[in-house]
Amino acid sequence: MTGRFVGRSAVVTGAASGIGRATARLLADEGAHVLAFDLSDGVVETAEGHESIIARRGDAGNDDDVCALMAAAVRQWGGIDIVVANAGISGGLAGLFEQTADDWMKILQVNLIGSFLAIKYGAQAMLDAGTAGAIICTASVAGLRAGAGGPAYSASKAGVINLVQSAAQQLTGTGIRVNAVCPGLVETGMTQGLYDAARAKGRETLIGQLNPTQRGGEPQELAQAIAFLASSQASYINGHALVVDGGLSTSHPFAAPRKVGVSTF
Ligand SMILES: NC(=O)c1ccc[n+]([C@@H]2O[C@H](COP(=O)([O-])OP(=O)(O)OC[C@H]3O[C@@H](n4cnc5c(N)ncnc54)[C@H](O)[C@@H]3O)[C@@H](O)[C@H]2O)c1
Repeated sequence: MTGRFVGRSAVVTGAASGIGRATARLLADEGAHVLAFDLSDGVVETAEGHESIIARRGDAGNDDDVCALMAAAVRQWGGIDIVVANAGISGGLAGLFEQTADDWMKILQVNLIGSFLAIKYGAQAMLDAGTAGAIICTASVAGLRAGAGGPAYSASKAGVINLVQSAAQQLTGTGIRVNAVCPGLVETGMTQGLYDAARAKGRETLIGQLNPTQRGGEPQELAQAIAFLASSQASYINGHALVVDGGLSTSHPFAAPRKVGVSTF
């Protein structure tokens, strides 16, 4: 077997679908042993046909479940080299006056506290084994500025971006790097309703038109970015939030510029 992750072990949360499933499979295809973790039974399907992926059910926002998850990986492979804290929920697009404190708690529990737990127990396992490692959290362009999700979702993802900076600092001198990816719009379980609605109206060509690449992203494109941050090719990248959005976050939301070469006169 060849690949960037031969002999490495990885834990991926939110691995039953979308970006997490693509990441678990890519890491496995490149040689890693992967513990794929999700609330949903779909995580079993992620492992089907992939000998080096083990599926495990549990809640990424629950302290005991995440602690047990990392312990299981250590029992299985003797240590953990890569943690991908990817599980997330959007909470829909309810606005400031529709959301309750309970809604906020649910979203923060999975997206932000879940990332904290994965970093805490994942890094502890790496420290116990005396190994270096890479931790990658899935944040969002919603965490960079408003408008790509409801207020609680945006705040949770902004928290994740700051959390990877804080964690990288806290882990100074350990050889453990902590980074984030910030996806733009990607077709996954989370955005399926939006894609389905656009297709039903024959408007799928409008998807992604707000970004200069003029299309939505694929889960595989996020998996490639996460795998890069997990690899030795990213050995000097630490505490960084890598935007993978086709250029969506490069501009303010004014009218889209005309195409190059098209005269405006
Ligand atoms: N799809 C996008 O456009 C987009 C954009 C920006 C960020 N993201 C982020 O990407 C990450 C992956 O989402 P996706 O787009 O692949 O959506 P998805 O819905 O396909 O996958 C999310 C997975 O997380 C799992 N999950 C949810 N809560 C969980 C919990 N408490 N414990 C364990 N698993 C749980 C779900 O069961 C699901 O399998 C999320 O953090 C999301 O916020 C997605």
